[in-house]
Amino acid sequence: MRTDTGHVFKLTDYKPTDFVVERIDLTFELDPKATIVVSRVILHRREGVGTDVPLVLDGDELTLDSLLIDGMEIDASLYDATPDSLTIRELPESAPFEITVTTTLSPETNTKLMGLYRTSGVYCTQCESEGFRRITYFYDRPDVLTVYTVTIIAAKDDAKHLLSNGNFLGGGNYDEGRHFAAWFDPHPKPAYLFALVGGDLGLVEDTFTTMSGREVALKIYVEHGKEPRAAYAMDALKRSMKWDEDVYGREYDLDIFQIVAVSDFNMGAMENKGLNVFNDKYVLADPETAADADYANIEAIIAHEYFHNWTGNRITCRDWFQLCLKEGLTVYRDHAFSADQRSAPVKRIAEIRLLKAHQFPEDAGPLAHPVRPETYREINNFYTATVYEKGSEVVRMIRTILGVEDFRKGMDLYFERHDGDAATIEDFLACFAEASGRDLKQFALWYSQAGTPSVSVSSEWNETKKTFKVTLEQSLAPTPGQSRKALMHIPLAYGLILPDGTEFEGQPTGGEASDGVFHLTKRKQTFSFSNVPGRPVVSINRGFSAPVNIAMEQSPEDLAHISRHESDGVARWQALNDYATRHLVAASRLARDGRNLMPAGDLADVLIATAKDDTLEPAFRAQALALPAESDIAREIGSNIDPDAIHTAREAVLAEVARAGQEVFTTLAASAPKGAYSPDAAAAGQRALAGISMSYASIAEATAERAKAAFNAADNMTVLAQALQVLAHQFPGSDETREALETFRTRYADNPLVLDKWYSIQAMAPGAETCERVEELLASPVFDHTNPNRMRSLVGAFTAGNPTGFNRADGAGYRLLARQVVEIDGRNPQLAARLLTAMRSWRSLEPGRQEQARLALLSIRDAGKLSADVSDIVERMLA
Ligand code: ARG
Ligand code: ZN
Repeated sequence: MRTDTGHVFKLTDYKPTDFVVERIDLTFELDPKATIVVSRVILHRREGVGTDVPLVLDGDELTLDSLLIDGMEIDASLYDATPDSLTIRELPESAPFEITVTTTLSPETNTKLMGLYRTSGVYCTQCESEGFRRITYFYDRPDVLTVYTVTIIAAKDDAKHLLSNGNFLGGGNYDEGRHFAAWFDPHPKPAYLFALVGGDLGLVEDTFTTMSGREVALKIYVEHGKEPRAAYAMDALKRSMKWDEDVYGREYDLDIFQIVAVSDFNMGAMENKGLNVFNDKYVLADPETAADADYANIEAIIAHEYFHNWTGNRITCRDWFQLCLKEGLTVYRDHAFSADQRSAPVKRIAEIRLLKAHQFPEDAGPLAHPVRPETYREINNFYTATVYEKGSEVVRMIRTILGVEDFRKGMDLYFERHDGDAATIEDFLACFAEASGRDLKQFALWYSQAGTPSVSVSSEWNETKKTFKVTLEQSLAPTPGQSRKALMHIPLAYGLILPDGTEFEGQPTGGEASDGVFHLTKRKQTFSFSNVPGRPVVSINRGFSAPVNIAMEQSPEDLAHISRHESDGVARWQALNDYATRHLVAASRLARDGRNLMPAGDLADVLIATAKDDTLEPAFRAQALALPAESDIAREIGSNIDPDAIHTAREAVLAEVARAGQEVFTTLAASAPKGAYSPDAAAAGQRALAGISMSYASIAEATAERAKAAFNAADNMTVLAQALQVLAHQFPGSDETREALETFRTRYADNPLVLDKWYSIQAMAPGAETCERVEELLASPVFDHTNPNRMRSLVGAFTAGNPTGFNRADGAGYRLLARQVVEIDGRNPQLAARLLTAMRSWRSLEPGRQEQARLALLSIRDAGKLSADVSDIVERMLA
């Protein structure tokens, strides 16, 4: 295990390397237990660096087999090799020199899935962030860019396909049944973008002709027999390539673009130059095995990794503190892509839901950190919702502030000025400031201040003077390491909806407001409108223009007015969702105190009216009908949370809505598109509306029959999984549920990705008993503890997706997680640390559960030898 030095890395410590890398030649002789890596690197001493300064290269669990300088052995007194560094003294003053470093690796026993490892017989690499140093001693940092030549040698029957970054140079037979392939990547890149794959794989091929007429070979490699399931990914890839040309003028820059899907992968996917490696969950799809949400994820992630070619690869990060420079920006780009491919408002609603579900709690708890962190102990723990999702929201706000045209000018300038660079957030912001002439200094605080700002909104209508005033006040609570906060620039899109449903167009005084956006830059600002014909209703933070919490007292009548008249679909959903949230919070408080709940009549009326309104897209209606999740309600309540009370209240409201709308839901439940399955957004929207209606109808009927019939008749995974979920969550223990679970398990026993759904659905079944069921599944001999998807599908789904089960009052859920984390940490620290973050909101629980959670966290902290990954998380959570 990598030694946890406890070292804290600081943004302010940045310093360029002492030596400059000119090129690297790598040769791999692949073998499961003893892969030999020869790395020849040409370097020279950076100008001004004294001759007494040694070359210090990074390593991680490495042993040095041999070292040559300019082809010669050197005296052992001139270098030190430890598992995590190689130091070489007395190197030439200015002339370039070559070092030849040989290391031997055991891919088969590399269970961390970082560096070179083997999964289902395939050799593959994962180098971001610091995996390259597990392959050879090198400057493993993003600001060291160089050109790579890679030669791979392997036994033909062990690895038929030998792939690396860049263009194919050539290959052929070697000796004794072995062969080789050589690759050259002309684009200088940092080590984290290096990739190698060796294996016997199935291949799907296509081509793409770029805007300047070059033909690019597209290849997707999957396990044999799974080729037909890569068709949708290929289609998404071609659409992504076209979109980046159309929207940003960015063309692909190699002769070949390859994707390899592997089944053991710590994350979603990786943007290695010209050779993306994917978790197969985000490549493989067909109607029988993938649900609509899987198709949407595949489309988004294929696009995300492809878009990194410009935002990440051609322009990379100076250091890992700048991670959001590539991730936030690339998420922003993949969001825009999906919005263009699908329904933009429905896509935005899903983004808002995700941001609030994952990023807001992170920002409100012990793991809060700025979009650009200033310190870290383990960088792998910063691939977070804050860096990714909030990072994307920050870019989106730049667009809102600048407008579409100046935003594009800023992006063009960024591409032009920084192509080939390892850049910083300051570089990025300077491009937008220059392109637009706007001062973005105050705005830049979004990168350095953690926490979700709150904006309180109040308004004042003067009937006689016909004036309307909107007062906004911002605040930002302290977060770990940041006790005092500066005032932010918060762009809040708004609309004033008049009594007749039209929008008031006049401009306010009192602060900057343009194109329907209030620019809140002071603590408190009042925007005054005059000549307003009648009392308007304010719709604020339309489209979620800023990632903030809004505090506003709005009457049910006003919210209903917005949800009836808002021209903007997202704002309409926001009004509905706010209304539902407020009701559920109040109901949860009553349930907590053991009192009778108030009737949900008004809420039911609005929801049913929305369900019936066929002028609205089905996908939108489905989103409207999906009540805020238990975790959303908990987040709103904020402290002293009792998950059982929330569950009771939400179930009661669901039942009331279901009974009130039974007729509507019964009709809509049968409205799924007939005929051959198509994954397109319109058909998926119809299935979503039918699916949620089926669930309401089943709740109203209080029998499992409808869901079982849907399960039996299903001809695609979307309907099948939805039916299984209704059965397992609404009718646990029923014969129908038992039968369906058994049918599903036997039918998909040979399809791990589908079986993951079977585990997740069970893990998320509400109630205390689920904890025992999860233990039982974990203990089964067929359960694969080493596969990250499988672990996430059971342990991750239980801890992050089952508030009542995981937060069992006796603490059994926390103890289950603690045991798993310690056990997994011995093999795969990244996975262990990620699973542990499910406890990040533990301090907002009621005192009894808080104490149980604290004991579980202490048991991890005191478990003995922990990885840097897990100890960093556990210590921050307990701090
Ligand atoms: N850069 C990858 C992406 O496209 C993710 C890499 C995650 N790496 C890690 N060490 N967690 O988002
Ligand atoms: Zn990314």
